Amino acid sequence: RVDPLVLGIETSCDETGIGIVRGTTLLSNTIASSMDEHARYGGVVPEVAARAHLEELVPAIRAATLEAGIRLEEIDAVAVTCGPGLAGALMVGVGAAKALAISLGKPIYAVNHLVGHVGADVLRLGADDTTEALEYPTIALLVSGGHTSLLLVRDLVSDVELLGETIDDAAGEAFDKVARLLGLPYPGGPQIDRAALDGDPTAIRFPRGLSQTKDMAKHRYDFSFSGLKTSVARWVEQKRDADEPVPLADVAASFREAVVDILLTKAVAACVDHGVPRLLLGGGVIANARLRQVAQERTDAAGIALRVPPLSLCTDNGAMIAALGAQLIMAGHAPSSLEFGADSTLPV
Ligand code: KG4
Ligand code: ZN
Repeated sequence: RVDPLVLGIETSCDETGIGIVRGTTLLSNTIASSMDEHARYGGVVPEVAARAHLEELVPAIRAATLEAGIRLEEIDAVAVTCGPGLAGALMVGVGAAKALAISLGKPIYAVNHLVGHVGADVLRLGADDTTEALEYPTIALLVSGGHTSLLLVRDLVSDVELLGETIDDAAGEAFDKVARLLGLPYPGGPQIDRAALDGDPTAIRFPRGLSQTKDMAKHRYDFSFSGLKTSVARWVEQKRDADEPVPLADVAASFREAVVDILLTKAVAACVDHGVPRLLLGGGVIANARLRQVAQERTDAAGIALRVPPLSLCTDNGAMIAALGAQLIMAGHAPSSLEFGADSTLPV
């Protein structure tokens, strides 16, 4: 059997991602981001993102085929994110994917964005990338500006269960909002990370949302960051009202520590509760060095194997969507009928 050549399209948020894979081998991963256009609004503006996708898609497809060294006619299938995400942004990608599939006479696979993040792990960067395949079941912790989810993955293409997710802000969103109230520019994650460098993470004990015993029955694997954000806001406000200097580094380090603690406490609990000794990380917040460091420490201590794909495959990208499409094909799944639409709240 020949490994399928799949082109993946990802437009669920502000990244226009086109990826091309052959089976589990990554051939190209082209990303155009409209981040700069959103910066002055302090967050992603859906309408702006959708328009940017429309402009970027065709050049990105061209660039991806060029980088992969293939002609578009050679692909075996198209895979596309159909949800969850921003409705208008998703629609642009879904429309483009259908047009491509119809014009080339190729099958199309509509895939879930969150499962796509898990699919990123199967990709190998070339013949000398000998990373062993991830075993299942695995727990996946996905953290970005748009989602904070814990998944139990028993099988990538047929059995993914959502254990919990944020009940308010996503973790990346919390970084962005706290950065803003500290006067730091968007996106806030990298800014907080930098500001925290010389800070003391134990300087201020910020609250860990949904970690009280009373929360545990209903929200054992859910996350909440809005209380943490409010707590940082109040703390900073009090300092300013008292005309005292705000110790930026300590606030940033203490806030980051709280987020990291919340994320990993729940992720490790999910592994332990389900008897799953594997944890996969995904999403743009994985860029946070402290998060990766504490993840390594806590998983080591608990005897859990930690998987972190390269950052270019953790942030939103088309290669992970193509990879999941290829997995579906190799597992013998039928393609999607062309009637599918974009679903901004698509469950896993
Ligand atoms: O996955 P991603 O690139 O895009 C979407 O969310 O669609 O994630 C972006 C998010 C932003 O909220 C950004 O502030 C956060 O990831 N982020 C970080 C870091 N780098 C990016 N958060 C914490 N620490 C970082 N180093
Ligand atoms: Zn994502």
